[in-house]
Amino acid sequence: MNRLDPHSYFDADQPRISRLRLAWNVHFDRRQLEGTVILELAAPSSGTLDLDTKGLTIRSVRTSRGTDIPFRLEDEEPILGRRLRLDLPSGTREVAIDYETAPEAVALQWLDPAQTEGKRHPYLFSQCQPIHARTMVPSQDSPRVRMSYRAELTVPEALAAVMSAGPAGVRPGGKPGTRTWLFEMPQPIPAYLLALAVGDLKSRDLSPRSRVWAELDTVGAAAWEFGEIETMITRAEGLFGPYEWDRYDMLVLPPSFPYGGMENPRMTFLTPTLLAGDRSLVDVVAHELAHSWTGNLVTNATMDHFWLNEGFTVWAERRILEALHGVDAAALGWAIGQKALEKEFERFGADSAVTKLRADLKGTDPDDVYSSIPYEKGARLVVVLERAAGRPRFDKFLRDYMGRFRFTSITTEEFRDFLEKSLPGVAKQVGLDAWLYDTGMPANAPVFHSMALEDLVSLASGWAMGTRPGPSQIAGWKPSEMLIYLQNLPREVDRASCDWLDRNLSLTGRGNYEILVEWLTIAAGSDYEPVFPRVREVLGRVGRMKYLRPLYTALGKHPRTRAHAHEIFDAAKEGYHSLSRRVAETVMEKYPR
Ligand code: BES
Ligand code: ZN
Repeated sequence: MNRLDPHSYFDADQPRISRLRLAWNVHFDRRQLEGTVILELAAPSSGTLDLDTKGLTIRSVRTSRGTDIPFRLEDEEPILGRRLRLDLPSGTREVAIDYETAPEAVALQWLDPAQTEGKRHPYLFSQCQPIHARTMVPSQDSPRVRMSYRAELTVPEALAAVMSAGPAGVRPGGKPGTRTWLFEMPQPIPAYLLALAVGDLKSRDLSPRSRVWAELDTVGAAAWEFGEIETMITRAEGLFGPYEWDRYDMLVLPPSFPYGGMENPRMTFLTPTLLAGDRSLVDVVAHELAHSWTGNLVTNATMDHFWLNEGFTVWAERRILEALHGVDAAALGWAIGQKALEKEFERFGADSAVTKLRADLKGTDPDDVYSSIPYEKGARLVVVLERAAGRPRFDKFLRDYMGRFRFTSITTEEFRDFLEKSLPGVAKQVGLDAWLYDTGMPANAPVFHSMALEDLVSLASGWAMGTRPGPSQIAGWKPSEMLIYLQNLPREVDRASCDWLDRNLSLTGRGNYEILVEWLTIAAGSDYEPVFPRVREVLGRVGRMKYLRPLYTALGKHPRTRAHAHEIFDAAKEGYHSLSRRVAETVMEKYPR
Protein backbone atom coordinates (compact mmCIF):
# COMPACT_ATOMS: atom_id res chain seq x y z
CA MET A 1 0.00 0.00 0.00
CA ASN A 2 1.27 3.45 -0.90
CA ARG A 3 -1.19 6.13 0.10
CA LEU A 4 0.42 9.51 -0.49
CA ASP A 5 -2.50 11.90 -0.12
CA PRO A 6 -4.21 12.40 3.25
CA HIS A 7 -7.44 13.32 1.43
CA SER A 8 -7.74 10.45 -1.01
CA TYR A 9 -7.93 6.68 -1.19
CA PHE A 10 -5.63 6.88 -4.21
CA ASP A 11 -2.91 4.27 -3.80
CA ALA A 12 0.24 4.80 -5.87
CA ASP A 13 0.86 1.02 -5.97
CA GLN A 14 -2.41 0.48 -7.82
CA PRO A 15 -3.38 1.06 -11.46
CA ARG A 16 -3.77 4.69 -12.48
CA ILE A 17 -6.59 6.33 -14.36
CA SER A 18 -5.32 8.26 -17.38
CA ARG A 19 -8.58 9.34 -19.01
CA LEU A 20 -12.29 9.67 -18.23
CA ARG A 21 -15.17 9.26 -20.66
CA LEU A 22 -18.20 10.83 -19.05
CA ALA A 23 -21.82 10.62 -20.13
CA TRP A 24 -24.18 12.48 -17.82
CA ASN A 25 -27.87 13.18 -17.90
CA VAL A 26 -28.56 16.32 -15.94
CA HIS A 27 -31.80 15.92 -13.96
CA PHE A 28 -32.89 19.28 -12.59
CA ASP A 29 -36.12 17.82 -11.22
CA ARG A 30 -34.34 15.43 -8.88
CA ARG A 31 -31.08 17.35 -8.62
CA GLN A 32 -28.95 14.48 -9.81
CA LEU A 33 -26.36 13.70 -12.42
CA GLU A 34 -26.97 10.20 -13.65
CA GLY A 35 -24.99 8.26 -16.19
CA THR A 36 -21.76 6.46 -16.88
CA VAL A 37 -18.10 7.10 -16.43
CA ILE A 38 -15.56 4.98 -18.25
CA LEU A 39 -12.19 5.01 -16.52
CA GLU A 40 -9.35 4.36 -18.94
CA LEU A 41 -6.31 2.96 -17.17
CA ALA A 42 -2.75 3.93 -18.01
CA ALA A 43 -1.89 0.26 -18.63
CA PRO A 44 -3.73 -3.09 -18.70
CA SER A 45 -4.18 -3.96 -15.06
CA SER A 46 -5.52 -6.42 -12.54
CA GLY A 47 -6.26 -6.59 -8.85
CA THR A 48 -7.38 -3.93 -6.42
CA LEU A 49 -8.32 -0.45 -7.55
CA ASP A 50 -9.51 2.00 -4.88
CA LEU A 51 -11.59 4.98 -5.92
CA ASP A 52 -12.89 8.03 -4.07
CA THR A 53 -16.63 8.49 -3.85
CA LYS A 54 -18.96 10.50 -1.65
CA GLY A 55 -22.72 10.20 -1.76
CA LEU A 56 -22.64 8.29 -5.05
CA THR A 57 -25.06 5.47 -5.79
CA ILE A 58 -23.22 2.83 -7.79
CA ARG A 59 -25.48 0.83 -10.12
CA SER A 60 -22.93 -1.37 -11.86
CA VAL A 61 -19.21 -1.76 -12.52
CA ARG A 62 -18.18 -3.56 -15.71
CA THR A 63 -15.27 -4.17 -18.03
CA SER A 64 -15.41 -2.98 -21.64
CA ARG A 65 -16.60 -6.48 -22.54
CA GLY A 66 -19.56 -6.08 -20.21
CA THR A 67 -18.46 -8.50 -17.53
CA ASP A 68 -19.24 -7.46 -14.00
CA ILE A 69 -16.32 -6.31 -11.90
CA PRO A 70 -16.71 -7.20 -8.20
CA PHE A 71 -16.91 -4.05 -6.08
CA ARG A 72 -17.45 -3.01 -2.51
CA LEU A 73 -18.51 0.42 -1.28
CA GLU A 74 -16.99 0.82 2.17
CA ASP A 75 -18.31 2.72 5.19
CA GLU A 76 -18.46 6.49 5.07
CA GLU A 77 -15.46 8.32 6.47
CA PRO A 78 -16.50 11.89 7.36
CA ILE A 79 -13.87 13.76 5.32
CA LEU A 80 -12.83 11.26 2.67
CA GLY A 81 -16.22 9.76 1.87
CA ARG A 82 -16.59 6.10 0.87
CA ARG A 83 -13.84 4.05 -0.69
CA LEU A 84 -15.05 2.12 -3.72
CA ARG A 85 -12.86 -0.94 -3.96
CA LEU A 86 -12.80 -2.80 -7.28
CA ASP A 87 -11.24 -6.16 -7.99
CA LEU A 88 -10.11 -5.93 -11.61
CA PRO A 89 -9.83 -9.09 -13.74
CA SER A 90 -6.45 -9.39 -15.44
CA GLY A 91 -5.92 -7.33 -18.55
CA THR A 92 -8.46 -4.65 -17.58
CA ARG A 93 -7.99 -1.49 -19.63
CA GLU A 94 -11.31 0.18 -19.00
CA VAL A 95 -13.85 0.23 -16.23
CA ALA A 96 -17.42 1.40 -16.90
CA ILE A 97 -19.36 2.59 -13.86
CA ASP A 98 -23.09 3.35 -13.99
CA TYR A 99 -23.99 5.64 -11.13
CA GLU A 100 -25.77 8.73 -9.91
CA THR A 101 -24.90 11.61 -7.64
CA ALA A 102 -26.72 12.61 -4.44
CA PRO A 103 -28.98 15.69 -4.50
CA GLU A 104 -26.81 17.17 -1.74
CA ALA A 105 -23.47 16.54 -3.53
CA VAL A 106 -21.13 19.25 -2.23
CA ALA A 107 -19.56 19.80 -5.66
CA LEU A 108 -22.90 20.78 -7.18
CA GLN A 109 -25.20 23.68 -6.57
CA TRP A 110 -28.63 23.38 -8.16
CA LEU A 111 -30.41 26.70 -8.47
CA ASP A 112 -34.12 27.21 -8.94
CA PRO A 113 -35.17 29.63 -11.68
CA ALA A 114 -35.91 32.24 -8.99
CA GLN A 115 -32.23 32.22 -8.01
CA THR A 116 -31.10 33.08 -11.53
CA GLU A 117 -31.12 36.40 -13.26
CA GLY A 118 -33.47 35.41 -16.05
CA LYS A 119 -35.84 33.73 -13.53
CA ARG A 120 -37.04 31.33 -16.22
CA HIS A 121 -34.63 28.41 -16.16
CA PRO A 122 -32.78 26.43 -13.53
CA TYR A 123 -28.99 26.51 -13.25
CA LEU A 124 -26.31 24.08 -12.16
CA PHE A 125 -22.65 24.64 -11.44
CA SER A 126 -19.83 22.65 -9.88
CA GLN A 127 -16.95 23.49 -7.55
CA CYS A 128 -14.62 20.51 -7.11
CA GLN A 129 -11.56 21.97 -5.42
CA PRO A 130 -10.35 20.86 -2.98
CA ILE A 131 -11.87 17.36 -2.57
CA HIS A 132 -15.41 17.46 -3.93
CA ALA A 133 -14.92 15.85 -7.34
CA ARG A 134 -15.71 12.56 -5.58
CA THR A 135 -19.29 13.74 -5.03
CA MET A 136 -19.62 14.06 -8.80
CA VAL A 137 -17.63 11.16 -10.25
CA PRO A 138 -15.89 8.06 -8.87
CA SER A 139 -12.18 8.48 -9.59
CA GLN A 140 -8.78 8.94 -8.02
CA ASP A 141 -9.51 12.33 -6.48
CA SER A 142 -5.95 13.28 -5.65
CA PRO A 143 -4.04 16.00 -7.53
CA ARG A 144 -1.24 13.47 -7.95
CA VAL A 145 -3.37 11.78 -10.60
CA ARG A 146 -3.93 13.55 -13.92
CA MET A 147 -6.59 12.56 -16.38
CA SER A 148 -7.66 13.83 -19.77
CA TYR A 149 -11.37 13.57 -20.40
CA ARG A 150 -14.23 13.72 -22.83
CA ALA A 151 -17.79 14.32 -21.75
CA GLU A 152 -21.33 14.25 -23.06
CA LEU A 153 -23.80 16.32 -21.10
CA THR A 154 -27.47 15.84 -21.86
CA VAL A 155 -29.50 18.83 -20.69
CA PRO A 156 -32.90 20.46 -21.35
CA GLU A 157 -32.78 21.91 -24.86
CA ALA A 158 -33.29 25.52 -23.74
CA LEU A 159 -30.05 25.39 -21.77
CA ALA A 160 -26.37 25.57 -22.64
CA ALA A 161 -23.54 23.65 -20.98
CA VAL A 162 -19.90 24.56 -20.45
CA MET A 163 -17.04 22.56 -18.97
CA SER A 164 -13.35 22.89 -18.11
CA ALA A 165 -12.62 21.55 -21.56
CA GLY A 166 -12.76 22.37 -25.23
CA PRO A 167 -16.22 22.58 -26.78
CA ALA A 168 -16.74 19.69 -29.21
CA GLY A 169 -20.23 20.26 -30.58
CA VAL A 170 -23.91 19.91 -29.72
CA ARG A 171 -26.39 17.34 -30.98
CA PRO A 172 -29.99 16.35 -30.25
CA GLY A 173 -30.27 14.39 -26.98
CA GLY A 174 -31.64 10.86 -26.74
CA LYS A 175 -34.94 12.07 -25.27
CA PRO A 176 -37.22 14.69 -26.81
CA GLY A 177 -36.65 18.15 -25.38
CA THR A 178 -32.98 17.52 -24.68
CA ARG A 179 -29.64 18.30 -26.27
CA THR A 180 -26.25 16.73 -25.72
CA TRP A 181 -23.21 18.98 -25.38
CA LEU A 182 -19.84 17.42 -26.16
CA PHE A 183 -16.51 18.32 -24.62
CA GLU A 184 -12.95 17.22 -25.12
CA MET A 185 -10.10 17.89 -22.72
CA PRO A 186 -6.90 16.59 -24.28
CA GLN A 187 -4.53 17.77 -21.53
CA PRO A 188 -4.34 15.69 -18.37
CA ILE A 189 -5.72 17.50 -15.30
CA PRO A 190 -6.30 16.56 -11.67
CA ALA A 191 -9.88 15.71 -10.68
CA TYR A 192 -10.29 18.98 -8.75
CA LEU A 193 -10.22 20.83 -12.07
CA LEU A 194 -13.22 19.00 -13.49
CA ALA A 195 -15.99 21.54 -13.85
CA LEU A 196 -19.36 22.05 -15.45
CA ALA A 197 -22.15 24.57 -15.55
CA VAL A 198 -25.57 24.39 -17.16
CA GLY A 199 -27.99 27.27 -17.55
CA ASP A 200 -29.53 29.82 -19.85
CA LEU A 201 -26.07 30.95 -20.90
CA LYS A 202 -25.00 33.37 -23.60
CA SER A 203 -21.49 34.25 -24.75
CA ARG A 204 -19.56 37.17 -26.19
CA ASP A 205 -16.23 36.89 -27.97
CA LEU A 206 -13.43 38.97 -26.47
CA SER A 207 -10.52 37.85 -28.63
CA PRO A 208 -9.79 35.00 -31.00
CA ARG A 209 -9.01 32.73 -28.05
CA SER A 210 -11.29 34.11 -25.36
CA ARG A 211 -14.98 34.54 -24.74
CA VAL A 212 -17.11 35.20 -21.71
CA TRP A 213 -20.29 33.32 -20.77
CA ALA A 214 -23.08 34.55 -18.50
CA GLU A 215 -26.81 34.92 -18.38
CA LEU A 216 -28.17 37.37 -20.94
CA ASP A 217 -28.67 40.26 -18.49
CA THR A 218 -25.03 40.09 -17.40
CA VAL A 219 -23.11 39.07 -20.48
CA GLY A 220 -22.74 42.60 -21.89
CA ALA A 221 -21.39 44.00 -18.64
CA ALA A 222 -19.09 40.99 -18.30
CA ALA A 223 -17.76 41.45 -21.83
CA TRP A 224 -16.90 45.04 -21.00
CA GLU A 225 -15.42 44.32 -17.56
CA PHE A 226 -13.08 41.62 -18.91
CA GLY A 227 -12.55 43.23 -22.30
CA GLU A 228 -8.80 43.55 -21.74
CA ILE A 229 -8.25 39.85 -21.20
CA GLU A 230 -6.06 39.39 -24.24
CA THR A 231 -3.52 41.93 -22.90
CA MET A 232 -3.44 40.00 -19.65
CA ILE A 233 -2.86 36.69 -21.38
CA THR A 234 -0.01 38.24 -23.35
CA ARG A 235 1.55 39.64 -20.14
CA ALA A 236 1.25 36.30 -18.40
CA GLU A 237 2.87 34.59 -21.37
CA GLY A 238 5.72 37.07 -21.08
CA LEU A 239 6.26 35.91 -17.51
CA PHE A 240 5.75 32.17 -17.79
CA GLY A 241 5.93 31.17 -21.43
CA PRO A 242 3.22 30.25 -23.94
CA TYR A 243 -0.36 29.69 -22.80
CA GLU A 244 -0.77 25.93 -23.16
CA TRP A 245 -4.52 25.43 -22.93
CA ASP A 246 -5.67 26.70 -26.31
CA ARG A 247 -8.69 28.78 -25.26
CA TYR A 248 -9.13 30.98 -22.19
CA ASP A 249 -12.85 31.36 -21.65
CA MET A 250 -14.64 32.67 -18.58
CA LEU A 251 -18.02 32.03 -17.00
CA VAL A 252 -19.67 34.59 -14.76
CA LEU A 253 -21.78 32.63 -12.30
CA PRO A 254 -24.85 33.54 -10.27
CA PRO A 255 -24.05 35.45 -7.04
CA SER A 256 -24.21 32.34 -4.87
CA PHE A 257 -20.86 31.16 -6.29
CA PRO A 258 -18.82 30.65 -3.10
CA TYR A 259 -15.47 31.91 -4.39
CA GLY A 260 -14.13 34.97 -6.19
CA GLY A 261 -12.83 32.79 -8.96
CA MET A 262 -11.89 29.22 -9.76
CA GLU A 263 -9.21 28.35 -12.28
CA ASN A 264 -11.06 25.61 -14.13
CA PRO A 265 -8.87 25.02 -17.18
CA ARG A 266 -10.11 26.68 -20.37
CA MET A 267 -13.10 28.02 -18.43
CA THR A 268 -12.36 30.19 -15.41
CA PHE A 269 -15.39 30.50 -13.11
CA LEU A 270 -15.98 33.99 -11.68
CA THR A 271 -18.27 35.61 -9.15
CA PRO A 272 -20.53 38.34 -10.57
CA THR A 273 -19.34 40.59 -7.72
CA LEU A 274 -16.36 41.34 -9.95
CA LEU A 275 -18.60 43.37 -12.23
CA ALA A 276 -17.82 46.74 -10.64
CA GLY A 277 -18.32 48.61 -13.90
CA ASP A 278 -14.80 50.08 -13.90
CA ARG A 279 -12.53 47.04 -14.33
CA SER A 280 -11.21 47.64 -10.82
CA LEU A 281 -11.55 44.00 -9.70
CA VAL A 282 -9.89 42.24 -12.60
CA ASP A 283 -6.97 41.23 -10.37
CA VAL A 284 -9.08 38.15 -9.65
CA VAL A 285 -9.04 37.34 -13.36
CA ALA A 286 -5.27 37.88 -13.47
CA HIS A 287 -5.06 35.43 -10.58
CA GLU A 288 -7.19 32.70 -12.18
CA LEU A 289 -5.37 33.17 -15.48
CA ALA A 290 -2.00 32.82 -13.73
CA HIS A 291 -3.17 29.46 -12.38
CA SER A 292 -2.98 28.25 -16.00
CA TRP A 293 0.73 27.93 -15.17
CA THR A 294 1.00 27.81 -11.39
CA GLY A 295 -1.58 25.24 -10.36
CA ASN A 296 -2.87 23.79 -13.59
CA LEU A 297 0.49 23.08 -15.29
CA VAL A 298 2.52 22.64 -12.10
CA THR A 299 0.14 21.32 -9.46
CA ASN A 300 0.35 20.84 -5.69
CA ALA A 301 0.75 17.13 -4.98
CA THR A 302 -1.79 17.28 -2.14
CA MET A 303 -3.52 19.98 -0.11
CA ASP A 304 -0.51 19.88 2.24
CA HIS A 305 1.31 21.76 -0.51
CA PHE A 306 -1.50 24.14 -1.43
CA TRP A 307 0.79 27.14 -0.95
CA LEU A 308 2.66 26.06 -4.12
CA ASN A 309 -0.54 26.70 -6.07
CA GLU A 310 -1.73 29.84 -4.38
CA GLY A 311 1.48 31.53 -3.23
CA PHE A 312 2.97 31.47 -6.71
CA THR A 313 -0.32 32.54 -8.22
CA VAL A 314 -0.75 35.58 -5.98
CA TRP A 315 2.83 36.54 -6.74
CA ALA A 316 2.14 36.13 -10.48
CA GLU A 317 -1.12 38.07 -10.20
CA ARG A 318 0.80 41.04 -8.74
CA ARG A 319 3.53 40.77 -11.36
CA ILE A 320 0.82 40.98 -14.02
CA LEU A 321 -0.68 43.96 -12.18
CA GLU A 322 2.75 45.58 -12.10
CA ALA A 323 3.28 45.01 -15.81
CA LEU A 324 -0.14 46.50 -16.61
CA HIS A 325 -0.37 49.37 -14.13
CA GLY A 326 3.08 49.91 -12.62
CA VAL A 327 4.90 49.26 -9.32
CA ASP A 328 2.73 51.62 -7.29
CA ALA A 329 -0.45 49.82 -8.27
CA ALA A 330 1.21 46.51 -7.37
CA ALA A 331 2.27 47.92 -3.97
CA LEU A 332 -1.39 48.68 -3.24
CA GLY A 333 -2.23 45.08 -4.11
CA TRP A 334 0.41 43.88 -1.65
CA ALA A 335 -0.97 46.23 1.02
CA ILE A 336 -4.48 44.86 0.59
CA GLY A 337 -3.03 41.35 0.87
CA GLN A 338 -1.14 42.34 4.01
CA LYS A 339 -4.42 43.30 5.70
CA ALA A 340 -5.91 39.95 4.75
CA LEU A 341 -2.87 38.19 6.19
CA GLU A 342 -3.02 40.12 9.47
CA LYS A 343 -6.71 39.31 9.86
CA GLU A 344 -5.96 35.61 9.45
CA PHE A 345 -3.20 35.71 12.04
CA GLU A 346 -5.73 37.27 14.41
CA ARG A 347 -8.34 34.64 13.55
CA PHE A 348 -6.08 31.62 14.04
CA GLY A 349 -3.28 32.97 16.25
CA ALA A 350 0.24 33.54 14.90
CA ASP A 351 1.48 30.28 16.38
CA SER A 352 -1.33 28.15 14.92
CA ALA A 353 -0.24 25.26 12.69
CA VAL A 354 -2.50 26.81 10.04
CA THR A 355 0.14 29.52 9.59
CA LYS A 356 2.72 27.04 8.30
CA LEU A 357 3.13 27.01 4.54
CA ARG A 358 3.88 23.30 4.42
CA ALA A 359 0.74 21.88 6.00
CA ASP A 360 -0.05 18.54 7.58
CA LEU A 361 -3.75 18.08 7.01
CA LYS A 362 -4.22 14.42 7.84
CA GLY A 363 -7.56 14.24 9.63
CA THR A 364 -8.42 17.83 8.74
CA ASP A 365 -10.99 18.93 6.20
CA PRO A 366 -9.18 21.39 3.90
CA ASP A 367 -12.32 23.54 3.68
CA ASP A 368 -12.13 24.07 7.45
CA VAL A 369 -8.66 25.62 7.30
CA TYR A 370 -9.01 27.57 4.06
CA SER A 371 -7.46 30.99 4.57
CA SER A 372 -5.36 33.72 2.98
CA ILE A 373 -2.21 32.40 4.63
CA PRO A 374 -0.98 30.05 1.88
CA TYR A 375 -1.80 32.88 -0.54
CA GLU A 376 -0.20 35.86 1.10
CA LYS A 377 2.56 34.25 3.14
CA GLY A 378 3.34 32.04 0.15
CA ALA A 379 3.50 35.01 -2.21
CA ARG A 380 5.79 36.84 0.19
CA LEU A 381 8.15 33.87 0.21
CA VAL A 382 8.26 34.03 -3.59
CA VAL A 383 9.12 37.74 -3.39
CA VAL A 384 11.91 37.03 -0.92
CA LEU A 385 13.33 34.44 -3.34
CA GLU A 386 12.90 36.82 -6.26
CA ARG A 387 14.73 39.62 -4.44
CA ALA A 388 17.53 37.31 -3.30
CA ALA A 389 18.12 35.88 -6.76
CA GLY A 390 17.52 39.13 -8.61
CA ARG A 391 14.60 39.45 -10.98
CA PRO A 392 16.25 38.32 -14.24
CA ARG A 393 17.67 35.18 -12.64
CA PHE A 394 14.44 34.48 -10.85
CA ASP A 395 12.35 34.85 -13.99
CA LYS A 396 14.67 32.39 -15.72
CA PHE A 397 14.34 30.04 -12.74
CA LEU A 398 10.57 30.20 -13.05
CA ARG A 399 10.60 29.22 -16.68
CA ASP A 400 12.92 26.32 -15.88
CA TYR A 401 10.59 25.31 -13.04
CA MET A 402 7.62 25.34 -15.40
CA GLY A 403 9.55 23.38 -17.97
CA ARG A 404 10.72 20.79 -15.48
CA PHE A 405 7.41 20.15 -13.74
CA ARG A 406 4.78 20.90 -16.38
CA PHE A 407 1.83 18.49 -16.21
CA THR A 408 3.09 17.04 -12.96
CA SER A 409 2.14 17.44 -9.31
CA ILE A 410 4.85 18.25 -6.80
CA THR A 411 5.52 18.57 -3.09
CA THR A 412 7.11 21.41 -1.15
CA GLU A 413 10.22 19.26 -0.81
CA GLU A 414 10.50 18.71 -4.56
CA PHE A 415 10.25 22.46 -5.01
CA ARG A 416 12.93 23.01 -2.38
CA ASP A 417 15.31 20.53 -4.05
CA PHE A 418 14.77 22.07 -7.46
CA LEU A 419 15.39 25.56 -6.07
CA GLU A 420 18.65 24.47 -4.47
CA LYS A 421 19.83 22.90 -7.72
CA SER A 422 18.85 25.88 -9.87
CA LEU A 423 19.72 28.76 -7.55
CA PRO A 424 22.29 27.32 -5.15
CA GLY A 425 22.56 29.12 -1.84
CA VAL A 426 19.39 31.19 -2.22
CA ALA A 427 17.39 28.93 0.10
CA LYS A 428 19.91 29.34 2.88
CA GLN A 429 20.23 33.06 2.28
CA VAL A 430 16.50 33.65 2.79
CA GLY A 431 15.98 31.07 5.53
CA LEU A 432 13.71 28.97 3.37
CA ASP A 433 13.07 26.27 5.95
CA ALA A 434 11.73 28.75 8.49
CA TRP A 435 9.39 30.11 5.81
CA LEU A 436 8.16 26.64 4.95
CA TYR A 437 8.04 24.81 8.25
CA ASP A 438 7.59 27.42 11.00
CA THR A 439 4.47 29.21 12.17
CA GLY A 440 4.05 32.99 11.95
CA MET A 441 5.86 35.42 9.68
CA PRO A 442 9.66 35.37 9.36
CA ALA A 443 11.52 38.58 10.22
CA ASN A 444 12.74 38.99 6.64
CA ALA A 445 9.20 39.28 5.24
CA PRO A 446 9.29 41.79 2.39
CA VAL A 447 7.96 45.31 2.84
CA PHE A 448 6.28 47.18 0.01
CA HIS A 449 6.45 50.94 -0.15
CA SER A 450 4.53 53.52 -2.07
CA MET A 451 3.80 57.15 -1.38
CA ALA A 452 0.10 56.68 -1.91
CA LEU A 453 0.07 53.80 0.55
CA GLU A 454 1.87 55.63 3.32
CA ASP A 455 -0.35 58.69 2.89
CA LEU A 456 -3.51 56.62 3.08
CA VAL A 457 -2.42 54.76 6.18
CA SER A 458 -1.45 57.92 8.03
CA LEU A 459 -4.63 59.67 6.94
CA ALA A 460 -6.75 56.80 8.26
CA SER A 461 -4.82 56.59 11.51
CA GLY A 462 -5.77 60.20 12.23
CA TRP A 463 -9.47 59.39 12.16
CA ALA A 464 -10.00 59.51 15.93
CA MET A 465 -8.17 62.85 16.08
CA GLY A 466 -10.57 64.29 13.56
CA THR A 467 -8.41 64.04 10.43
CA ARG A 468 -10.58 63.72 7.32
CA PRO A 469 -9.76 63.47 3.62
CA GLY A 470 -10.82 66.47 1.57
CA PRO A 471 -13.23 66.30 -1.38
CA SER A 472 -10.55 66.66 -4.06
CA GLN A 473 -8.42 64.03 -2.38
CA ILE A 474 -11.35 61.62 -2.30
CA ALA A 475 -12.19 62.36 -5.91
CA GLY A 476 -8.64 61.43 -6.92
CA TRP A 477 -8.66 58.02 -5.25
CA LYS A 478 -8.55 54.87 -7.28
CA PRO A 479 -10.84 52.11 -5.97
CA SER A 480 -7.89 50.28 -4.42
CA GLU A 481 -6.93 53.46 -2.55
CA MET A 482 -10.45 53.91 -1.23
CA LEU A 483 -10.32 50.29 -0.06
CA ILE A 484 -7.00 50.74 1.73
CA TYR A 485 -8.27 53.86 3.43
CA LEU A 486 -11.32 52.00 4.73
CA GLN A 487 -9.25 48.98 5.78
CA ASN A 488 -7.14 51.24 7.97
CA LEU A 489 -10.04 52.95 9.75
CA PRO A 490 -11.12 51.81 13.22
CA ARG A 491 -13.46 48.78 13.13
CA GLU A 492 -16.05 50.63 15.15
CA VAL A 493 -16.93 54.31 14.89
CA ASP A 494 -19.77 56.48 16.13
CA ARG A 495 -22.92 57.36 14.27
CA ALA A 496 -21.73 60.80 13.16
CA SER A 497 -18.60 59.18 11.70
CA CYS A 498 -20.67 56.67 9.76
CA ASP A 499 -22.86 59.48 8.49
CA TRP A 500 -19.78 61.39 7.41
CA LEU A 501 -18.21 58.42 5.64
CA ASP A 502 -21.31 57.45 3.76
CA ARG A 503 -22.10 61.01 2.77
CA ASN A 504 -18.59 61.87 1.59
CA LEU A 505 -17.48 58.57 0.12
CA SER A 506 -20.89 57.40 -1.21
CA LEU A 507 -20.33 53.92 0.14
CA THR A 508 -23.66 52.16 0.59
CA GLY A 509 -24.54 52.34 -3.08
CA ARG A 510 -21.17 51.08 -4.36
CA GLY A 511 -20.91 48.48 -7.09
CA ASN A 512 -17.35 47.60 -6.10
CA TYR A 513 -17.95 44.78 -3.61
CA GLU A 514 -14.52 45.02 -2.01
CA ILE A 515 -15.24 48.60 -1.00
CA LEU A 516 -18.90 47.93 -0.28
CA VAL A 517 -18.25 44.98 2.03
CA GLU A 518 -15.39 46.75 3.81
CA TRP A 519 -17.78 49.62 4.49
CA LEU A 520 -20.69 47.42 5.50
CA THR A 521 -18.38 45.57 7.89
CA ILE A 522 -17.43 48.81 9.62
CA ALA A 523 -21.00 50.06 9.59
CA ALA A 524 -22.55 46.79 10.81
CA GLY A 525 -19.87 46.51 13.50
CA SER A 526 -20.77 50.07 14.54
CA ASP A 527 -24.47 49.18 14.83
CA TYR A 528 -25.20 51.81 12.17
CA GLU A 529 -28.76 51.10 11.31
CA PRO A 530 -29.10 52.94 7.96
CA VAL A 531 -27.02 50.26 6.22
CA PHE A 532 -29.09 47.30 7.45
CA PRO A 533 -31.28 47.09 4.35
CA ARG A 534 -28.18 46.97 2.16
CA VAL A 535 -26.52 44.36 4.42
CA ARG A 536 -29.68 42.28 4.24
CA GLU A 537 -29.78 42.61 0.47
CA VAL A 538 -26.12 41.61 0.03
CA LEU A 539 -26.26 38.66 2.42
CA GLY A 540 -29.53 37.50 0.94
CA ARG A 541 -28.10 37.27 -2.54
CA VAL A 542 -24.31 36.96 -2.49
CA GLY A 543 -22.72 33.70 -1.33
CA ARG A 544 -19.06 34.60 -1.78
CA MET A 545 -17.46 33.26 1.42
CA LYS A 546 -14.91 36.05 1.54
CA TYR A 547 -17.80 38.45 2.19
CA LEU A 548 -19.99 36.30 4.40
CA ARG A 549 -17.38 35.80 7.09
CA PRO A 550 -16.64 39.48 7.88
CA LEU A 551 -20.25 40.59 7.51
CA TYR A 552 -21.74 37.94 9.77
CA THR A 553 -18.87 38.42 12.22
CA ALA A 554 -19.47 42.18 12.37
CA LEU A 555 -23.20 41.64 12.86
CA GLY A 556 -22.48 39.26 15.71
CA LYS A 557 -20.92 41.97 17.85
CA HIS A 558 -24.01 43.86 19.10
CA PRO A 559 -27.23 42.35 20.44
CA ARG A 560 -29.43 44.21 17.98
CA THR A 561 -27.35 43.38 14.90
CA ARG A 562 -26.94 39.85 16.17
CA ALA A 563 -30.69 39.36 16.06
CA HIS A 564 -30.61 40.70 12.51
CA ALA A 565 -27.83 38.27 11.61
CA HIS A 566 -29.88 35.27 12.69
CA GLU A 567 -32.92 36.51 10.88
CA ILE A 568 -30.92 37.20 7.71
CA PHE A 569 -29.18 33.85 7.88
CA ASP A 570 -32.45 31.95 8.39
CA ALA A 571 -33.91 33.61 5.33
CA ALA A 572 -30.80 33.28 3.16
CA LYS A 573 -29.40 29.87 4.02
CA GLU A 574 -31.60 27.91 1.63
CA GLY A 575 -30.10 29.85 -1.26
CA TYR A 576 -26.49 29.52 -0.14
CA HIS A 577 -24.05 27.01 -1.56
CA SER A 578 -23.40 24.33 1.07
CA LEU A 579 -19.84 25.63 1.56
CA SER A 580 -21.09 29.18 2.14
CA ARG A 581 -23.76 27.93 4.50
CA ARG A 582 -21.09 26.16 6.53
CA VAL A 583 -18.99 29.32 6.82
CA ALA A 584 -21.96 31.42 7.93
CA GLU A 585 -23.05 28.70 10.35
CA THR A 586 -19.59 28.54 11.91
CA VAL A 587 -19.69 32.28 12.53
CA MET A 588 -23.25 32.22 13.89
CA GLU A 589 -22.37 29.44 16.32
CA LYS A 590 -20.08 31.92 18.04
CA TYR A 591 -22.99 34.31 18.44
CA PRO A 592 -25.95 32.33 19.78
CA ARG A 593 -29.39 33.92 19.64
N1 BES B 1 -8.33 27.94 -6.51
C1 BES B 1 -8.83 29.04 -5.78
C2 BES B 1 -10.16 28.78 -5.15
C3 BES B 1 -10.22 27.60 -4.22
C4 BES B 1 -9.15 27.26 -3.40
C5 BES B 1 -11.35 26.85 -4.18
C6 BES B 1 -9.24 26.15 -2.57
C7 BES B 1 -11.43 25.75 -3.34
C8 BES B 1 -10.36 25.41 -2.54
C9 BES B 1 -8.89 30.31 -6.63
O1 BES B 1 -7.84 30.41 -7.55
C10 BES B 1 -8.72 31.47 -5.72
O2 BES B 1 -7.70 31.55 -5.11
N2 BES B 1 -9.71 32.35 -5.64
C11 BES B 1 -9.62 33.55 -4.85
C12 BES B 1 -9.17 34.68 -5.75
C13 BES B 1 -8.27 35.69 -5.16
C14 BES B 1 -7.14 35.18 -4.33
C15 BES B 1 -7.77 36.65 -6.22
C16 BES B 1 -10.98 33.84 -4.27
O3 BES B 1 -11.93 33.14 -4.61
O4 BES B 1 -11.10 34.72 -3.43
ZN1 ZN C 1 -5.98 30.79 -6.56
